[in-house]
Amino acid sequence: MTAPATPTTWTPPRLGVNIDHVATLRQARRGVEPDPVWAAAAAELGGADGITVHLREDRRHIQDRDLRILRETVQVGLNLELAVEPTMLTIALQVRPDQVTLVPERREEVTTEGGLAVSPRREKVGEAVARLREAGIRVATFLDPDPSEIDASVEIGVDAIELHTGRYADAPEGQERDRELEILRAASARIASAGIGLHAGHGLNYRNVMGIAGIAGMAELNIGHAIVCRAVFVGLEKAVREMRGRIEAAR
Ligand code: PXP
Repeated sequence: MTAPATPTTWTPPRLGVNIDHVATLRQARRGVEPDPVWAAAAAELGGADGITVHLREDRRHIQDRDLRILRETVQVGLNLELAVEPTMLTIALQVRPDQVTLVPERREEVTTEGGLAVSPRREKVGEAVARLREAGIRVATFLDPDPSEIDASVEIGVDAIELHTGRYADAPEGQERDRELEILRAASARIASAGIGLHAGHGLNYRNVMGIAGIAGMAELNIGHAIVCRAVFVGLEKAVREMRGRIEAAR
């Protein structure tokens, strides 16, 4: 087990701001505003360490044009969430984000439900990881905190694993949430001991982020919905700054 977070060993995880829902709002009218490219700039001004977008096969929010412009304009790391499908991999290899996070994708889902199943498709996912890494792109897989899936991802050579925090976020505060946090802590220790990057995300908000940010070795959190929701009232730059404050308070 890794040591618990202490002021001497803990450094705040990077904050990757997911701007998909700015594009969701734009797509509600199929117009030009609000522009996720502007959102990325505002998020950077607020202290984002990275910008995350999910180019879905159905293009329900982020569009190819967004990705192209973001590649040119984003000055922090650009993390592209992507399904393991040949057409999507071709796009990633053309655009060359700094990082790709491989995610499961189902057309009927409202948002990404559950982690990627790597073990049943080890060869296909492994090939995608190898192609992306050869192109100089860091690759993460988005996983439920399941030891066998973590081991399968380590075996196929990923640079990092992003743990799905949805069950933790959905659990009522108290014993149930504590149990989910313990599961995430154990999975985090397994990932850290494999010597690869430890990321987490999904459903994190201003109230529940500290438990996850405080996990020893946590290097990156990807947060979207809660930040964009707060931005409606306080502006995106301030919403990002406030989230960074919560993460740093996990110390
Ligand atoms: N990480 C991954 C892999 C995701 O698919 C998502 C949702 O797009 C997030 C993080 C961000 O989740 P949320 O919008 O709930 O913060």
